[in-house]
Amino acid sequence: MQIGEELVIAILDSIDEAIHVINEEGITIFYNQVAADHDGLHREEVLGKHLLEVFPSLNENSSTLLEVNRTKQPIYHLPQTYKNKWGKLIDTVNTTLPIKINGTFVGSVEIGKDYSKIKDLSNKLMDLQSKVRGVSKKPNEIYGAKYTFHDIMTKNERFNLVKQQATKVAKSSSTVLVYGETGTGKELLVQSIHNESQRRQGPFIAQNCAALPESLLESILFGTVKGSYTGAVDRAGLFEIAHGGTLFLDEINSMPLELQSRLLRVLEDGMVRRIGSPKALQVDVRVIVALNKYPSECVKTGELRPDLYYRLNVFSLEIPPLCERLEDIPYLVDHFIGLYNHSFQKNISKVDDEVLELFASYTWPGNVRELKHIIEHAMIMADGTTLSKDLLPNHLIDSPTLASTLALRPLREAVQETENTLISAAMKKSGGNINQAAKLLEIPRQTLQYKLQKKNH
Ligand SMILES: Nc1ncnc2c1ncn2[C@@H]1O[C@H](COP(=O)(O)OP(=O)(O)OP(=O)(O)O)[C@@H](O)[C@H]1O
Ligand SMILES: [Mg+2]
Repeated sequence: MQIGEELVIAILDSIDEAIHVINEEGITIFYNQVAADHDGLHREEVLGKHLLEVFPSLNENSSTLLEVNRTKQPIYHLPQTYKNKWGKLIDTVNTTLPIKINGTFVGSVEIGKDYSKIKDLSNKLMDLQSKVRGVSKKPNEIYGAKYTFHDIMTKNERFNLVKQQATKVAKSSSTVLVYGETGTGKELLVQSIHNESQRRQGPFIAQNCAALPESLLESILFGTVKGSYTGAVDRAGLFEIAHGGTLFLDEINSMPLELQSRLLRVLEDGMVRRIGSPKALQVDVRVIVALNKYPSECVKTGELRPDLYYRLNVFSLEIPPLCERLEDIPYLVDHFIGLYNHSFQKNISKVDDEVLELFASYTWPGNVRELKHIIEHAMIMADGTTLSKDLLPNHLIDSPTLASTLALRPLREAVQETENTLISAAMKKSGGNINQAAKLLEIPRQTLQYKLQKKNH
């Protein structure tokens, strides 16, 4: 053997990848120690022998090396999972290439990268995450609920009533449905309920159902047992981790319908079954769900199962949007100014009337969150002691206001006008057929007839 060849062999023997080379006839001509370790064989058992003689479980079609020998085409990055002679599970990614010397085909080489360790590490990481959630002495410090009812600022009568109802329901273990537009304070309310309940020392676990793909959401919620699918390990789901506490399922309408029916069964009997396990476990978890669309609307669009909706609707709380509680705006403005005076070391003590007028007529699609961010923005820009209009973001100054989108006028007149528009549209759609138009409007035919007569006079 020449020095050069020895050097190449030494190099190939010292790298981390498995290397297996066969000649044109399928006889192994090179086989490094890593490859031998993967396969659980000694190099001598393999070298100089035909591949199928050493690996009787393979055949002409299933062996990638023999396939490349036949096709002379490379196969890149093929994942393979197999048990070696000693029963050890090996996960590799293989690349198999034809070897040509001066244009003549002489055999094939397979390079295998073992990623069992990476897979192991990723499983360990997920296990650790679930342990951190599960066994921490003070889970609330990590995944906790920090807000209480004192943090929910409102002077609005309707919202105060909701707060009162929430305080009462907090004492029980009932499932609660919270509805409110984005940024109205659903998270605040749900955390406050947990902290007001007997479960406040227990875990508070929040999961947004829109944030995960279907299969992952199911295993995260219910847990898995080893072997239930490739790579599955014994892992507790959020229902088990939240035992003795509260599980907050946000944007429940994004949960796939099949999973909604599984959730309903857990709500009915308190039993959860890890994926792949025949054993059901009794859990003591209070479930709170939130929606940012009208619940009945979600049922109509098919996003929420009616049976689950009826089960959840036993106790529902609706947070009014900010534009329906204008009295809260100056109150929240003061509150947020206090907050940011402190954290930004500012000294704002006055708000221009112009600013409050603009706020009162703005539509607030992002509700309190938007108001909070606008105050934050203005306070960063502010130098003096007054919060003036020029400190506000441009989009707010140029935006259409409530007043311009909806001019104030007598309600009766506005309702009548809307009714007339709808009746005309229904009559048009039904081609003048009163029966059909009444069906479209979901009112009795007689009522429509009467309204049509009134409209024409
Ligand atoms: N009544 C309130 N008093 C004080 N702060 C509030 C109030 N309502 C909301 N906030 C603040 O507004 C922000 C948004 O609130 P939260 O996250 O509870 O909204 P949400 O309804 O869960 O929104 P989304 O549907 O987008 O998740 C938070 O920073 C919260 O502290
Ligand atoms: Mg939220």
